[in-house]
Amino acid sequence: MIIKKVGVVGCGFMGSGITQICAQSGYQVTVQDINEDVLKKGLSSIDYFVSHSVEKCKLSASEGNAILARIKSTTNLKELADSDIVIEVVPEDIKLKQKIFKELDKICSKRTILASNTSTIRIAELAKVTSRPDKVIGTHFLSPVPPSKLLEIVRPDTTSDETLETVKRFGKSLGKEVIVAKDTPGFIFNYLLGTLTFAALELLEKGIATKEDIDKSMTLGLGHPIGPIALMDFNGLDVIYLTQKAFYDQLGEPGKVPSKLVKKLVDEGNLGRKSGKGFYDYSKEKKR
Ligand SMILES: NC(=O)c1ccc[n+]([C@@H]2O[C@H](COP(=O)([O-])OP(=O)(O)OC[C@H]3O[C@@H](n4cnc5c(N)ncnc54)[C@H](O)[C@@H]3O)[C@@H](O)[C@H]2O)c1
Repeated sequence: MIIKKVGVVGCGFMGSGITQICAQSGYQVTVQDINEDVLKKGLSSIDYFVSHSVEKCKLSASEGNAILARIKSTTNLKELADSDIVIEVVPEDIKLKQKIFKELDKICSKRTILASNTSTIRIAELAKVTSRPDKVIGTHFLSPVPPSKLLEIVRPDTTSDETLETVKRFGKSLGKEVIVAKDTPGFIFNYLLGTLTFAALELLEKGIATKEDIDKSMTLGLGHPIGPIALMDFNGLDVIYLTQKAFYDQLGEPGKVPSKLVKKLVDEGNLGRKSGKGFYDYSKEKKR
């Protein structure tokens, strides 16, 4: 199967990045969100990327206009009906994702592949609420989506070889290196990163080290581009909390209890970079 039209459900941090990279790679994209303001914000960040790239001569004006013309936004899920693939990018809540997969299964053409950007939830839990488990797959993009080199594909036993091969080709066409994981909570990337994150939080909560020193141990010691505490701020502490909760609900391991410290910051409205404060304070940084 050849993918031409892409649907994206959710235009938040990850959904807007996925929309951008698909439009940049020549796909027609329809992005849906329940929140008009989020749609406007997501599209204006893509607009900013395009005008900045034109200013810096990385894109011609006509290439920039063509990227923007390939994107359509809507609050109506039905407008995704004729997509070749729909990528769900809503918050990490299994009931919400299952509800959307059920609706998409009813709305979309029989040929449409249904993919989820979930960080931790088993894809089989989403496939089972549809009538097309052979066409359900995980496409775990990493943040920030456009420059990230990796796409982790998650394949439950029910996914057909044809769906897997189509999505692998799609991922490569977006300029990503593709890895394939079996359908276990957290897959490859978040199983490893989750372990590091839980350990960093434990060191911080027990007062064994400061957040700055924990981050330096990984940036200077291992050459990571960002430390685990700063990375949580970058990804969004609300997203981290939901991810930890989804991990715990599925695995029930004592070492994977959602962090009280993260929950406290979320309850205070400190969501990380996006709100100006999380573990670190970003309020003095210049806004675009
Ligand atoms: N933030 C990260 O670094 C990161 C990285 C990889 C994967 N993920 C995964 O991607 C998914 C989304 O994360 P995010 O950081 O983009 O979250 P986000 O909160 O920034 O965006 C979620 C969007 O979904 C929209 N939404 C909520 N309910 C909806 C509905 N019923 N229909 C349509 N849209 C709806 C919200 O309005 C919001 O714009 C999660 O599953 C998360 O685990 C996140």
